[in-house]
Amino acid sequence: MPSVYFQTFGCQMNTADSDTIHQLLSQRGFVLCGSHAGSDLVVVNTCSVREAAEKRARARIAEFANWKKHHPGQKLWVIGCMAERLGDALKKDIPGIDTIIGAKQMERIDDVIEAQFPKCQCDDSASADIFQKTLVTDFVPVMRGCDNYCAYCVVPYVRGREMSVPYDVIEYAVKQKVDAGIKEITFLGQNVNSYNHGGLDFPELLSRMAAVEGLERIRFTTSHPKDCTGKLIDVMASSPKIASHLHLPFQAGSDRILSLMNRRYTSSHYRRLADTVKKRVPGVDLTSDILVGFPTETGAEFRETLDLVRGVRFTTAFMFAYSPREGTAAAGMREEIHRSEKLARLAELIALQTEITREIYEKTVGSELEVLITDRQQKRDMAWMGQDRGCKRVLISCENAAPGMIFKVRAVRSSGMTLIAERV
Ligand code: 5AD
Ligand code: SF4
Repeated sequence: MPSVYFQTFGCQMNTADSDTIHQLLSQRGFVLCGSHAGSDLVVVNTCSVREAAEKRARARIAEFANWKKHHPGQKLWVIGCMAERLGDALKKDIPGIDTIIGAKQMERIDDVIEAQFPKCQCDDSASADIFQKTLVTDFVPVMRGCDNYCAYCVVPYVRGREMSVPYDVIEYAVKQKVDAGIKEITFLGQNVNSYNHGGLDFPELLSRMAAVEGLERIRFTTSHPKDCTGKLIDVMASSPKIASHLHLPFQAGSDRILSLMNRRYTSSHYRRLADTVKKRVPGVDLTSDILVGFPTETGAEFRETLDLVRGVRFTTAFMFAYSPREGTAAAGMREEIHRSEKLARLAELIALQTEITREIYEKTVGSELEVLITDRQQKRDMAWMGQDRGCKRVLISCENAAPGMIFKVRAVRSSGMTLIAERV
């Protein structure tokens, strides 16, 4: 059987896309290979959101291309956002790439794979069972693309216009995964809040999915603050299956910077929204993306970001130094912040958020949590990894557990970003 090796960079959407391609290839007889060295096909799924992500992907692709020179017959595919952004120019830069599949082609990926490997050439029945992954939690994309054009962001250019996946396609995917043993689904989209298919909006989609028997937990990401409605918060508050976790990127604390970023909300709107979510969904974990060093950001404006972080108290956050992306509105702005200043701001922000995360985890010690066991902790016997109804990682020592089980535990200790718990 031919074999395939995946290297996936970037966001959860890329993970979901790699899974989809893996599934299509497995239907054509491919088996998954643990290393690039012995595989017939190497697939590199790339990210363009920051320059550093592209650099990492380039280095890896070059490594694979070099290996390929001495291993004729091996194929190298580059897919995803960088493949979309640079197209065939990437092939010229790094000779050895056989096929480029840009992110926009994911909409018709069945046809793209069929063109490369027609299905009828192999016996897919033989491989179908081998590729059933024994996962507990999985992703389902509900939206593709983004129409928001935040001034710093390359995503609308590489992933294209917003498109909502039809409801019946989502329902089918969810039910199929639940039948295969999946307990938790994360709905994915650049901005899930603008989901709309034939008048069916995102809160309604969540309510319907919460009724699927056997599906125990529902997560979703990412929410844009300008589209996060009372209706969404109502659904979160009223459905026990929906996780108590909202990832709500705020990016910057200064209204002037938010406006330059084209985010279309103010800092006080964001604070009010966060307060409402905390009141309506007790114990909710709020998480965020935060960007420092946007062009022209002053020291005082950066401190407004720190103030917002202190005020809202996120459980965790992804924090980034601004990196200019060709073709975006911000790339044309002058007065870029010096790299050393951006990194100093980032370090200060990370130190503050790390302390808040530590305090929130400490405060959870002593409380009862409902955990979903996701996997075994590799280094220890009778130790299991799980996640609570929010976004906290929990390590549990107990007998007779298994991935997929949900039970009550009591947090007895915190070690930074993991809670240590006992079964009750
Ligand atoms: N530079 C740094 N970070 C960025 N992000 C998006 N574009 C850039 C950029 N040009 C961050 C934002 C976004 C997250 C996915 O990546 O915070 O929410
Ligand atoms: Fe990028 Fe803004 Fe769209 Fe998010 S909402 S993907 S940050 S343009």
